[in-house]
Amino acid sequence: MPPPSTHRRAIRRTDDFTPGTPKTKLVSEPLTPLSPTSVLIKVHAIALNYRDANIANGGNPWPVTPNGILGNDAAGEVIAVGDKVKTLVVGDRAAPITDTENISNREHTRSWLAADEDGVMADYIVFDERVLCRLPSYLSWVEAAMVPCAGVTAWSALKGMRIGQTVLIQGTGGVSVFALKLARAAGLRIILTSSSDAKLAQMSEKLGNPPISTVNYAKFPDWEEEVLKLTNGVGVDIVVENGGTSSLVKSLKCTRRGGVVSQVGYLAKQDPSQLRELVPTIIDRRVILRGINAGSKFDMEDFCAALEAAQTPLTDLIDRVFPFEQAEEAVEYVWQGKQIGKIVLRV
Ligand SMILES: NC(=O)c1ccc[n+]([C@@H]2O[C@H](COP(=O)([O-])OP(=O)(O)OC[C@H]3O[C@@H](n4cnc5c(N)ncnc54)[C@H](OP(=O)(O)O)[C@@H]3O)[C@@H](O)[C@H]2O)c1
Repeated sequence: MPPPSTHRRAIRRTDDFTPGTPKTKLVSEPLTPLSPTSVLIKVHAIALNYRDANIANGGNPWPVTPNGILGNDAAGEVIAVGDKVKTLVVGDRAAPITDTENISNREHTRSWLAADEDGVMADYIVFDERVLCRLPSYLSWVEAAMVPCAGVTAWSALKGMRIGQTVLIQGTGGVSVFALKLARAAGLRIILTSSSDAKLAQMSEKLGNPPISTVNYAKFPDWEEEVLKLTNGVGVDIVVENGGTSSLVKSLKCTRRGGVVSQVGYLAKQDPSQLRELVPTIIDRRVILRGINAGSKFDMEDFCAALEAAQTPLTDLIDRVFPFEQAEEAVEYVWQGKQIGKIVLRV
């Protein structure tokens, strides 16, 4: 079947990091012709992550290609396939994985969307079938767009947890609200931190019974002590660690001996001098520190299967939906940290 469109609209970075100038531009560009194993997807929704705002503002800790297309969380519909494609057909709902070289977690190279290669903030995208994953059928496009990055990251960060264990989740951003949802569904006890009492109250009300425990990390600079008090001095079984250097040692100190810290984020200003106590603390507490890089294609398939089986609605994770044409405003909204949960562009 010939592609229904020869051009696409895409949101590319301006790479102008001067405060107050636009960080993105809407461009029209030719679509790459389909190779025998590639798939053309009509994108219906794109979810934003902190990473998009950080990359657009020049803060990404890893190199990025010049003027690249933003975005690594999207949902769309297959509208054309190359003649050797075996795993997807026209009409399927699909999205690419964030690290397109991580199929099974055994690969030793990586290529991140929106950094090493163009991302998904466009109305049409073309990817090889091997990096595409089917999305759950019960979700709306806006809900499904949150699955590939924020969802899979939360899934990977909580991997291995058992019912009855305690998780510490930091902040009320996109990955955190997903982790909250999964932790509740998995029967974990939840301790949530935030810099805002209002956000903590809002999340406590949303989650209802059993009540979650909360700590305001801005009011209590030694919040790890509060977390220890909440766990009778033992510490939590697992941390969804979002701060990076500013919070990692504190997170280790309030994790039980032999527990797990999943290093997901780097939201605070990163300063290696804050890691002076890292080695003694990690040895003393015998904590397993694991890096999270979204997840593999197999992780995404497992997560989608879990969602499909539980039919968990995700609408309550959405803070605001912007039209595709307002990508600039949406990226700025995330950069200012105004959201509780996810910001999504509808195409
Ligand atoms: N490793 C991966 O695979 C992966 C995947 C996706 C994202 N990430 C990273 O994970 C982090 C979270 O991403 P996101 O998209 O969820 O971000 P987000 O939606 O922008 O989250 C922002 C929220 O995080 C909280 N926060 C800010 N600074 C914090 C700090 N120093 N300590 C604890 N919480 C803090 C704030 O919550 P309150 O206002 O409630 O305080 C803020 O509203 C980012 O660093 C992102 O780059 C990593």
